[in-house]
Amino acid sequence: MQTVLTESPEIAAGFIRSGGIVAFPTETVYGLGANLFDPIAIKRIFEAKIRPADNPLIAHIGDVSQIDLVASEIPEAARRFMERYFPGPLTLVLPKTDKVPKVATAGLATIGVRMPSHELALRFLKACNTPVAAPSANLSGRPSPTTWQAVVEDLTGRIDCILQGDPTEIGIESTVVDCTSGIPMVLRSGGVTLEQLQSVVPETELYKRRGNEKPRSPGMKHRHYSPRADVILVDDLSFVTTDRSAFIGREKPAAEFEDVKVCTSDDEYAQSVFGFFRDCDRRGIKTIYCQKVEERGIGLALMDRLRRAASGK
Ligand code: TXA
Ligand code: MG
Repeated sequence: MQTVLTESPEIAAGFIRSGGIVAFPTETVYGLGANLFDPIAIKRIFEAKIRPADNPLIAHIGDVSQIDLVASEIPEAARRFMERYFPGPLTLVLPKTDKVPKVATAGLATIGVRMPSHELALRFLKACNTPVAAPSANLSGRPSPTTWQAVVEDLTGRIDCILQGDPTEIGIESTVVDCTSGIPMVLRSGGVTLEQLQSVVPETELYKRRGNEKPRSPGMKHRHYSPRADVILVDDLSFVTTDRSAFIGREKPAAEFEDVKVCTSDDEYAQSVFGFFRDCDRRGIKTIYCQKVEERGIGLALMDRLRRAASGK
């Protein structure tokens, strides 16, 4: 299959309208989209990414009014989050309508809904004229793509089209909040911080899986965000480095590395981490040392991604 590269949201949307699958930029990471109501196109997303069939997709909308096509009910807390963060890096898990095919939600009765704030994404979604189901546009398990070049690296020849935009601003994925059972539960930390959510709905909690309970967010049990290199998390910077290693963090380490990225804020660290992982893989780096950050603000989501990358899970 030939993958068309375009900067035109209208051309990209044409592929969606005719049953194709298209990668597009958002403010978090690039997504791989298909018409939510076209089960055959949705199946192609799973094939292209080699994604486990039990991992549900997020419905992306280009206009708030489209939410009624995908969600059968909008609890009060979800309404308050929508007022503040639609558009934005927030995914709300809500009861789905019958119209949403089961392949999209991996058989669940709920669906994640998000309206991105990225201008090109919104133009694309509006031109699609339908909600677009989209996971991140990487091969399953790899770091999420923050540039169109990273999408090319993983998916060229496997998808119909890539809508080319700038590198993504936030760099890690949206926050996923389950609004279906009373207290809003954060299933995946992300671009909207826990503190920001609690300022809208104070009871909002971070979901912690208990014992052998079935995970509420199926995706979180799969391997994620892993570069080929080993990832090691470090606190203080006086460690001894190994051959062919790189470093990313907030302070300059004393030791020599093949590549060093010092970020001036946690936001910059989040924005650059997945791209840094991919650069390291391209250069054959064997070990990536990542400095830990405090788990508040965007640091909570950043540490979640770093831990997953380090555990290879
Ligand atoms: O920022 C983002 O959210 C990006 C961009 C493209 O929008 N998308 C993204 O999609 O990261 P994906 O599929 O890579 O991650 C979606 C996560 C998975 O962990 C999945 O299990 C969870 O959200 N999820 C989706 N629908 C769900 C549902 N109905 N119930 C619980 N978790 C759900
Ligand atoms: Mg993903």
